[in-house]
Formats: sequence, C-alpha cells, structure tokens
Amino acid sequence: MAFRWKNTLTENDVTPEALYLSRRQLMGGAAGLGLATLAGRAGAMEAGLEPNDWDDITSYNNFYEFGTGKSDPANNAHALTIDPWSVRIDGLVDKPGDYAFEDIMKAMSVEERIYRFRCVEAWSMVVPWNGFELADLLTMAGIQSGAKYVAFETLYRPEEMVGQKYAVLDWPYVEGLRLDEAMHPLTLMATGIYGRDIPKQNGAPLRLVVPWKYGFKSIKSIVRITLTDKEPPTSWNIANGREYGFYSNVNPKVDHPRWSQASERVIGGGLFARKQPTLMFNGYEEEVASLYAGMDLGTFF
Ligand code: MTE
Repeated sequence: MAFRWKNTLTENDVTPEALYLSRRQLMGGAAGLGLATLAGRAGAMEAGLEPNDWDDITSYNNFYEFGTGKSDPANNAHALTIDPWSVRIDGLVDKPGDYAFEDIMKAMSVEERIYRFRCVEAWSMVVPWNGFELADLLTMAGIQSGAKYVAFETLYRPEEMVGQKYAVLDWPYVEGLRLDEAMHPLTLMATGIYGRDIPKQNGAPLRLVVPWKYGFKSIKSIVRITLTDKEPPTSWNIANGREYGFYSNVNPKVDHPRWSQASERVIGGGLFARKQPTLMFNGYEEEVASLYAGMDLGTFF
C-alpha cells in the first residue's frame, strides 16, 4: 500500500491497545501494517478522529441474529462457532469456490484503518479496524466482465444465532454493493479491531465495512460473496423499502422517513454523550462523491 486516504488513521496514534496484534491479524501481512502505520500517522493529525474505546465498540452493537437489543450481541454471540470458517465466492468469477478463512488471510495484506462509523439510527463511533481491501479478494477470485454488483450473505445457523429463531428479518441477512463501490479502496473486509481478532458480536471472523454508507450495509460474519449482473436484494430494503434504499449513503440532507439524519449522537463519554453534525458521505465525500456523479441522491437513497 503506497498511499493512504487522508481520513484513515491507525490505532497506533491513539491507544496502547494496539501494542499487541493477534496472530491472525499479523498473518495477513506484517509489512503492509508497517507502511500503513507510518502513513496513517499523518492522517491522524489531519482528520483528528479519536477512536472509541474497546468497550464501546464491543458492547453497543447491532447484530439481529443475536437479538435486537444493543447488548444482546455481546451477551449471545459467544455461541457462534467461527473455526472452521469458509467463504463461498461464486457467480461471475473465474475461480469460484469455498475459500477457507485461513487461506484468505494468508493471501491478503492486513492493514489498519480508522474509520467513522455512522448507523442509520443516528449514532456514530470511530473504529480502528484491521482488514484488507475487498478489491483484493475479488481480484483474487477473478472478476468476469459481466459482473456489475456484489452480493453478500451472513451465516444462517439458528442453533447458534438465537435471534434467527424470530422472523425479525428475512434470514439470512443479505447485502449488496455496486461493483465500483465494492472495488473502492476504502471498502474493507474487517478481520480485527485494535489489532485483535474481531469479536463475534462485531461480525467474526470477517465482515464488510463501507465507511461512507449507513452501518447496516456493513454486513457481518460473511459466508458468501456472489458477483452478479443484477442489483442484489438487501435485508433492510426487503423489510421496509420505503425507509431503506439500496445505496444508503450517509447523507445529512436526506432524512429517514421517521427521523432526521442531520446530526448524530456520538457513542461514548457516558453522561457527556454529545451530538455532532453528520457529514456528507460520512466525511468521505472527496473520495467517493464521483461514484454518484449525476445521480439524484434523494431518489437513489
Ligand atoms: N450484519 C448482520 N449480519 N446482521 C445485523 O443485524 N446490523 C447492521 C450491520 N451489520 C447487522 C449487520 C447494523 S444496523 C449496524 S449499525 C452494524 O452492523 C453495527 O456494527 P457494530 O455492531 O460492529 O457497530
């Protein structure tokens, strides 16, 4: 990785929790980590983002497969078996197949990215992820010329995922991106937080992170990635198409039908939790606005 996006930082700038990295996080490419850390330091000064602490990030979650309460995932996700784990990559790719998680980690270069994370419920955090670019994984599978979209699917295993016993959503959880969004260098497959393996409540062993979109696009515990020529169905759009569109780009000017998106509650700080204005594309406008040139973002919300 020769350069970095100016809004991405590394946790080494801000916390001693980064002092140790787990074996899985390192396996992906220690050299890449070193470079990213150096360049990220400049980014930290520029963007001034301060990551939330480990407890906020791992105890205030949305992962409906484990219940709809914010603390349900942290309480229930221990039941999930994540070893062995494999991801089926299929559809319009040259090398379809079941890829073992360990093999993916050996092939990918893991780096640190500190991103803003904005939930459609109007709260936000800053998370120091470890992960690799989705583009690298898709390239490894060999993208065929007809591919226009990427579909993602979460594990369906009601014996371990207690929330799947209830029809809150149409299981399994599914999401999708346009291919150019999926190939954007900001789009990450996260495998860690603060240098440790990503906790189960946050989507172990690997989940998507698309920092300029509302958090529900960032699908957790992925078992399948399909390259396709059609816009794939997405869970929240299936549940309520009037409220949740396919694009779901963070946009302070396009309100959710039931609440404003102009500002957000910053998680952390306990009693002193503050509100801040929401930024266009969650602060990544410079990097991603060109993807949507000429599109009416009120129509394609
Ligand atoms: N992925 C799956 N499989 N199931 C979910 O319920 N919730 C989404 C997203 N990914 C969800 C999911 C929502 S609404 C948000 S805001 C983020 O995960 C929350 O991620 P976090 O708990 O790591 O903050």
